[in-house]
Amino acid sequence: MPANKFNGYTDYGIGIGLRIPHYEHILSRKPSVDWFEIISENFMVDGGRPLEVLDQILAQYQVVQHGVAMYFGAAAGPNKEHLRRLKTLTKRTKTPWLTDHLCWGSVDGTFSHDLLPMPYTFAAAKQTAANIRQVRDTLEIPIAVENVSSYTEFHVSEMTEWEFLSEVVELADCGILLDVNNIYVSAKNHGFSAYDYIDNVPHHRVAQMHIAGHTKFEKYILDTHDHPVLDPVWKLYAHATKLCGVTATLLEWDDKIPSFDEVHNEALKANEFIAQAREAKIPVPQKISRTKIR
Ligand SMILES: [Fe+2]
Repeated sequence: MPANKFNGYTDYGIGIGLRIPHYEHILSRKPSVDWFEIISENFMVDGGRPLEVLDQILAQYQVVQHGVAMYFGAAAGPNKEHLRRLKTLTKRTKTPWLTDHLCWGSVDGTFSHDLLPMPYTFAAAKQTAANIRQVRDTLEIPIAVENVSSYTEFHVSEMTEWEFLSEVVELADCGILLDVNNIYVSAKNHGFSAYDYIDNVPHHRVAQMHIAGHTKFEKYILDTHDHPVLDPVWKLYAHATKLCGVTATLLEWDDKIPSFDEVHNEALKANEFIAQAREAKIPVPQKISRTKIR
């Protein structure tokens, strides 16, 4: 791992998402897995089976928390009760960092339960960065924000999605969870180059990567997480790994979940691309100059 990797994010290797259909297999067979990502909201409870399972997992595996309900882009700022419960969980898991999405999801207290795309404006970037700083200061752990897949965009946007992501993470001084499948899906849906995206984010801030499968429809691509990773996404992952350095990598498989071994073997295919990146003598990720678009 490059020595100056932002904020000391550790390359834990290749992990998979901890999912209910695999509990029995993991707890009884104790397979060798580098790390598990948990969805924080599934464990923000006061007790019962979820925490019993989590404690058994924590006894044997590295766990990193990933959330789906922080809404870093929310104009109203982070929900205080959500943060309080989240902090209780971070103390339990000792997660080395916490990730959630660069999105919004509620209006006047009514939640859409979707990861809605941001308007890419300077005002939104400033508000989002302030929210991320507030979360980090409250939870007292490093934060990395994930790019979402999107199907619509705002007329008021003042920059590209990758410029917006870069602006936010620079203002917040935080990490990036680079989801290369989401980049591929959004690039196809909106007609931009996924390589332009990856080439122009601050590589030294990339803390972790997500890979996943998607579904192609006639006029758009849907981020379904119910397939193996498709070849163009592996190619993007290989490209990103060469630019950003090898980072903790996580396969997301959330629907039509096959056996544990099938999911794990799919994730381990990343090893081939990591080996290629290492052979290519990965340069230490450089800070790239921020886009001059003001
Ligand atoms: Fe993701």
